[in-house]
Amino acid sequence: MKVGIVGAGMVGSSAGYALALTGTASEVVLVDVSEKLAIAQAEDIAHATPFHSATKVRAGDYQALAGAGIVILACGVNQKPGESRLALLERNAEVFRQVVGAVLAVAPDAILLIASNPVDIMTEITTRLSGLPATRVIGSGTILDTARFRSLLGRHLGISPQSVHAYVLGEHGDSEVLTWSNALAGSVSVASFAEQVGRPLTPELRAEIDDNVRNAAYRIIEGKGSTYYGIGAGLARLVKAIALDQRAVFSVSILTPEVEGVRDVALSVPRVVGASGVIVDLFPELDAAEHAALARSAALLKEKTASLQL
Ligand code: 2OP
Repeated sequence: MKVGIVGAGMVGSSAGYALALTGTASEVVLVDVSEKLAIAQAEDIAHATPFHSATKVRAGDYQALAGAGIVILACGVNQKPGESRLALLERNAEVFRQVVGAVLAVAPDAILLIASNPVDIMTEITTRLSGLPATRVIGSGTILDTARFRSLLGRHLGISPQSVHAYVLGEHGDSEVLTWSNALAGSVSVASFAEQVGRPLTPELRAEIDDNVRNAAYRIIEGKGSTYYGIGAGLARLVKAIALDQRAVFSVSILTPEVEGVRDVALSVPRVVGASGVIVDLFPELDAAEHAALARSAALLKEKTASLQL
């Protein structure tokens, strides 16, 4: 599978690096407004491949995306310390107005993976600009928040995060919803598991984990300017699910006909991802507070997109 990445900044290059290390793609092409940056990133990543894979990594222009099965859009600006994801909307919408047509002109059959923020709204914009079925325009959504939630729960419970099945739904942003009510450790609820191992999930601890997940990006951006390793790995994982038609479940964002009574909104719920993109949407059982929080998240995103001119 040839994978294109538009935007060779920290997120795009980390995705390329993760793809090269895991050997998930046969070829990775990096495209950037700064040709110099794309060439340098591609060269640096290519030097990692002899240790791990035979992935061909190179820089190119849009023409070089011809034949790509997946194109990752990681272009535009990212947050400055203290800035919310939603604050990026106008600037990144303008970038996407230029980029989406250029990508589809050469790679009309590619599945598009959107990473730029605010990712839910950028996913909606890309879906509308491209005219592609919503199932082929996939935002990374809360894939990373879900990973953060699992990592913190796994650490508290003393088990692998891969044995924690817990999801963050809604906006990839301040209104996201950690769904505690259906979170499992192995085959039992996280609450029961926590009791069994003598490490109860007290309300204080839940609040601390919620805060850690919701505000992780703000803390990391404060410390080092941007976040990229986590999302890079998440994007590579999505590529693998598509390339191998794994039909694996991820919390990703697509334009969805209806969520909690809000129509045509892009946000994350768990979805089955395979060769054709999103195959099935899953609407987990939630408690009343989670339903209400997801409804608020959907309404907030809807409000932000209502005035958007494409
Ligand atoms: C993150 O959550 C900033 O959206 C980015 O790491």
